[in-house]
Amino acid sequence: MSRRILIAGNWKMNCLQADGTALAADLASRMKSGSVKCDMLVCPPFTLLKGVLDAVAGSGIAVGGQDCHAAEKGAHTGDTSAWMLKDLGCAAVIVGHSERRTNHAETDAVVKAKAEAALAAGLMVIVCIGETLDERDAGKTLEVNRTQVQGSLPDGATAENTVIAYEPVWAIGTGRTATPDQAQEVHAAIRSELRGKLGEAAANGMRILYGGSMNAKNAADLLSQADIDGGLIGGAALKADDFWTIAQSCP
Ligand code: 13P
Repeated sequence: MSRRILIAGNWKMNCLQADGTALAADLASRMKSGSVKCDMLVCPPFTLLKGVLDAVAGSGIAVGGQDCHAAEKGAHTGDTSAWMLKDLGCAAVIVGHSERRTNHAETDAVVKAKAEAALAAGLMVIVCIGETLDERDAGKTLEVNRTQVQGSLPDGATAENTVIAYEPVWAIGTGRTATPDQAQEVHAAIRSELRGKLGEAAANGMRILYGGSMNAKNAADLLSQADIDGGLIGGAALKADDFWTIAQSCP
């Protein structure tokens, strides 16, 4: 089954209004004058969502949040609901990024609840999973990722509404990318876990992104792997030239 590549930028806690909207406008103008063979998504911080949505309007670039609360509304000071993201015009949201699992003690159960809220609000959800270096060194890579798939995948997940992002924690922001073979091995294991959970068709159709020091130089090799269906890009998504080169590396 052919899966359309998704190139997604996770801007994390970066950019003020001027540079964030300029970056978005730069990407939008490249989209309008060039062509890419993939879906494009940018996930800026909450404060920039509106400006970025305005800057990319009509370009084909979708916009998403980096997190959401599991509840629709209520007494959750400082949080943002999936419905608020949808209301603003977002198409997607990332949940379960390792920085949130680590910094905010988010468990698989919390991630699953957030993912289900995203689906209920009508957003596409990107569910992040990935092993730490200690887990890899202990030979537990596949087991950890399978467990996170089982624990974090939302009920109601389909190939259309859910994307998995495999982001080995040791590769994030370190410049140490998983080799294409290392990544492909885990992606294939994730897809086999999805097959058991969702059935053949959904597993074959669901996109599994790689994230962790993906850049303009290594993207083509990673994206040519059979089970790598795109990238969730941090640092390189903050530079229009690099992000654009990655998008043009799609097979
Ligand atoms: P880097 O591309 O900076 O390693 O970040 C990856 C990531 O965490 C994307 O969500």
